Amino acid sequence: MANAPLRVALIGMGTVGTGVARILTAQADRIARRAGRPIEIRRVVVQHLEKPRGVTLPDGMITDSPDAVYADKEIDVALHLVGGQEPARTIMLRLLESGKEVVTANKALLCEHGDEVFRRARELGRTVAFEAAVAGGIPIIAAIGQSMAGNQIISIQGILNGTSNFILTEMHEKGRTYSDVLAEAQKLGYAEADPTLDVDGTDAAQKLVLLSQLAFGTKVPVLSFQRAGIDKLELADLRNAAGFGYRVKLLATARLVAGQLEMHVQPTLIKLDEPLAKTSGAFNMVELTGDAVGRLWYSGAGAGEMPTASAVVADLIDMAVGRAQLTFTRLDIWREHSPLPLLPATDVRRRFYLRYNVEDRPHVLADIADILGRHNISIASVIQKEAESATSPGGPPTVPLVIMTHESTEGAMRDADAELAQLKSIRPPRVRIPVAS
Ligand code: HSE
Repeated sequence: MANAPLRVALIGMGTVGTGVARILTAQADRIARRAGRPIEIRRVVVQHLEKPRGVTLPDGMITDSPDAVYADKEIDVALHLVGGQEPARTIMLRLLESGKEVVTANKALLCEHGDEVFRRARELGRTVAFEAAVAGGIPIIAAIGQSMAGNQIISIQGILNGTSNFILTEMHEKGRTYSDVLAEAQKLGYAEADPTLDVDGTDAAQKLVLLSQLAFGTKVPVLSFQRAGIDKLELADLRNAAGFGYRVKLLATARLVAGQLEMHVQPTLIKLDEPLAKTSGAFNMVELTGDAVGRLWYSGAGAGEMPTASAVVADLIDMAVGRAQLTFTRLDIWREHSPLPLLPATDVRRRFYLRYNVEDRPHVLADIADILGRHNISIASVIQKEAESATSPGGPPTVPLVIMTHESTEGAMRDADAELAQLKSIRPPRVRIPVAS
């Protein structure tokens, strides 16, 4: 091949870095054809030199200092595969300042410091590509940034955390325990280094922030919208939801509502016949609605070594060809021209699934219905099963009461819940899960 090779450094050899090295070494010829030039790994920066690697690299390539990359003027592109905030942020800025184009998979860094990273890249005339930062192998950044450019995006609804979706699927379909499935998700390389970020909704929220920035040109801090994870969900609610014809998913939503941006990440009931409800295991799905195209669904492996590596290598090839640089300049990403206001959480309108553990005695249902009714919350259906025994030594027996409401606001639900919390006849926990609309 006549063209000069593109020289690449890998910063980080965790799950994703290992997958990238595998593809670049095993598929070198095919990738060179797509890139129009050979891609040569020149340096690999790792944290622990002695740690065994799942891929064979030529001698002398591995170092534990990124300085070797900053100093090497012949390296064209750095694959920034380091998680977390620091030293990931410093490494990113040093790479840009030392003249490298950068491909990153670090959504947490872009979510917190995207404005700084992209401003610096623009000042230096460099490019940052980040397809791998959201939804693993699914080309969702390209979809929003390029393929849907003819549309005003109206809504993004997504299952954006593979670990949570894997846990929910295994719990629901096989009755497995939460902690058992979480341990397996970690072993399979789906989970973050700190899996709390997966199960408490942070990871999905960070990805939603990136997608919203691209689709709506508005930077929304992750702490400014409602976020809940799957860590408090109980199997009973997954099963009850199925009885009503729904699946519970960790759903991330960003949509335009009368000129405001509605955003939240929460366990949510989704009608069984919706594609999002059928997304199982570590798969992700993003449903995009554009004003011209209507609804589109992007689905596939949202986590794991090879799917995420697939997205990194695609960005790398785009860098080699020069497409990523052109797109980056045109996209003008992270510059807010006319940011949208965030719809206050209390104004978000949805239906709700409610489950209360109530004393089985007269007037309890009437008290609950009264509180909901006074807050203008209308009941769509109710299920209460008979108690197993008529008496219990510590007082009246309790029974689960499950209610589906009609549409209401989050604010009305919160006010009603504060009153329900005062009822002695309701024992904790009070479960409230929104229904997707
Ligand atoms: N830990 C993430 C997930 C994958 O489970 O979806 C990387 O974003």
